[in-house]
Parts: sequence; C-alpha cells; structure tokens
Amino acid sequence: PVASVLELGGVKIARDDVVKDDPTNNVPDTIFSKLGMQLHRRDQHPIGILKNAIFEYFDSNYPQKFDKFDDLCPIVSVKQNFDDVLVPADHVSRSSNDTYYVDPQTVLRCHTSAHQAELLRSGHTHFLVTGDVYRRDSIDSTHYPVFHQMEGVRVFSPNDWEASDLDATSIAAGDLKTCLEGLARHLFGAVEMRWVDTYFPFTNPSFELEIYFKEKWLEVLGCGVMEQEILKRSGKLNNVAWAFGLGLERLAMVLFDIPDIRLFWSNDERFTSQFSKGQLGIKFKPFSKYPPCYKDISFWISESFTENNFCELVRGVAGDLVEEVSLIDNFTNKKEMTSHCYRITYRSMERSLTDDEINDLQWNVREQVQSKLNVVLR
Ligand code: PHE
Repeated sequence: PVASVLELGGVKIARDDVVKDDPTNNVPDTIFSKLGMQLHRRDQHPIGILKNAIFEYFDSNYPQKFDKFDDLCPIVSVKQNFDDVLVPADHVSRSSNDTYYVDPQTVLRCHTSAHQAELLRSGHTHFLVTGDVYRRDSIDSTHYPVFHQMEGVRVFSPNDWEASDLDATSIAAGDLKTCLEGLARHLFGAVEMRWVDTYFPFTNPSFELEIYFKEKWLEVLGCGVMEQEILKRSGKLNNVAWAFGLGLERLAMVLFDIPDIRLFWSNDERFTSQFSKGQLGIKFKPFSKYPPCYKDISFWISESFTENNFCELVRGVAGDLVEEVSLIDNFTNKKEMTSHCYRITYRSMERSLTDDEINDLQWNVREQVQSKLNVVLR
C-alpha cells in the first residue's frame, strides 16, 4: 500500500495529484512511492554521507559560503525542467518515453538543473541543490528510475576577471575544473582523472569528468560555463557562471563498493547497519549473493513499443526483484514484423526466490505485456 498524502518541501501532495487520470500522465505507483523518501537527507545512508562530504569540501575550500538546498519539491513545471535551461523543443529528453509527466505542464524533475534559473533569479550566486531525480530508462545494476543529483552553481562578477589577461569564460572554466578536480581528490584521494568535451544545451563549453576506477573510465559528472542567455533572463547581464551536476549513486557505488543500485533503497539491516554518519571510507560487505534466475520472453513488437515502457512494466510486476532486462535477440522478418527477445534476470538482494514465485512474476509479465503494450507473444 502506498501512502496517499506526502509532504514535499513543506507542501502537501495527494497521490491523486501525481498519479492521475490524464492521458499524458505516465507516473506509475512504483514511482509515486519513491517521492518523499529523501535518501539524501539521511545522515547514515551512503547518499547522505556522500552529500555531507561534498558540503564539507565546499565549506572548507571556499571563503564564500555556498547556499544549500535539499528540500526543493521534485514536481516541477516543464518550463523549469526544460525551457529555463534552454532544452530545445524537439530534444529527446522531453519525450514521455524519457520523462515522467504528471500532466502536459508538469514533470518529475529529470535533473537538479531544473532549479538553476529560479535560484539565480532570487539572487543566489553560490549554491548547491541536492535532490531525487526521475528518468525512464532500461534496467541493470547501475540504472534505476529514481536517483540523486547535486547541482552546483557559482556566479562571477566583473571584478573576478578584470585584473586578469584571460576572458571571463576562461576564468570560469578554469575555476570550475580546479574546483571539481579538488572535489574528486577530497572524495577519492589520489585518482587518475580526465576531462572530456561534451554538449549540454545549458552550458558552453561543456565537459564531463571521468575517473579511472577498477580498470575503467567512469563518467561522474557533467558541467560547464553557463549559457549567457540563462544569466541574462535571470537579470544577470554582466556576469558569467559555472554549473555542474553530479550523480550521487554513481559516486557512492564507487566509494562504498556498492555493487547494485537497488541496494540504496533497501531497508535490510544487513545493508543499512554498515554505514554511519561521517564515515566515507567504509567498504560495503555483501551479505550474500542469492542465485539469479533467468527468464526469456519473445514477442512481435508494435509500432509504439519502446524498451523503456517494457522495463517499467516489468518493474511494475516484479519491483526490486528484477535485476536486469536485456535484449538478447532482435530480427525483422520478410513481412516487416520485428521480434524482440528479452532476458529478464530476477534476483533478490535479501533472500532466495522460489520457482513458484518467479513463475508467477513471469506469468504476470507475459499477460501484461500483451494487454498493455500491444505486442504479440511468440
Ligand atoms: N543536468 C545535467 C545532467 O543531468 C548535468 C549538468 C548540470 C551539466 C549542470 C552541466 C551543468 O546530465
């Protein structure tokens, strides 16, 4: 059973305000039930511990205090989430395949950048926004439809660059890189890192920071020099600014050795009791690995079929018992019909699953995929 009224950022919100009978609404109960959980505000939880460690870095390295926000409501307008940060009207991230819509004008924020413009407008020049963000996606050990981000913004004034030979944008970009390299060292100690050029609609130039971990380059954050247009619209014509957005789960998985993103949502004491306030260095000891169970499902897809819709349906049936959904076969026949075969991995983090239980889940998936996704089972 899902609580029917939530308090978010001091505002009371009823389930029917979020999961409603509106043709554009695509928020399932499984997602509604995550609203208000606020893992980032729990000092004993890896996400909260990491947030506090990042705060510590900013507090001790910047004479100018960063204002901190971690209770802003995740239900935001399309304008806040997309328009205010210059996301083009035809950008894929706006589609209902990628984003949760409450109604045509309202979404569950897909990034903490949704709060940049309003905070600039209300006069903040140094701030950190932490919160839960929501994205429709496929299923594996590093993807979950709800995760946490921290956004950082720093605004510069003419006297910050006037004395220098460099232009304002270079000053901001240089300061940004120094700041984030310092943060990575604060969290990870001596690490190898590299900058990769990238694109975001709201920054230019834009970069990603990758750190070398367990023989792989891991992308940990996106950032850049804020588009002048955003500052201009917020009444800051003569300023430049940098912004970054980092994914807290990604960093926490590395820092605490947490192997599966579902664990962050676990109430199992064998997980929760391993972490304590202020302890960044602790390595998670897996309490045991229960056996996975694989089930394949094949069907002819319809034109409207998307993998995100299928994944959400599977999560609706199996919840956190689903570990991964992967496309293992895909072909189109002479009649132009396309078949997909998915392998679903079921595994609990907490106990062994019985055959009966898994067969029931798979049976439900088979039934719903036909009735709700308009596909033909093979
Ligand atoms: N909002 C971006 C994302 O979620 C990250 C980002 C934030 C990039 C701020 C640049 C500046 O991927």
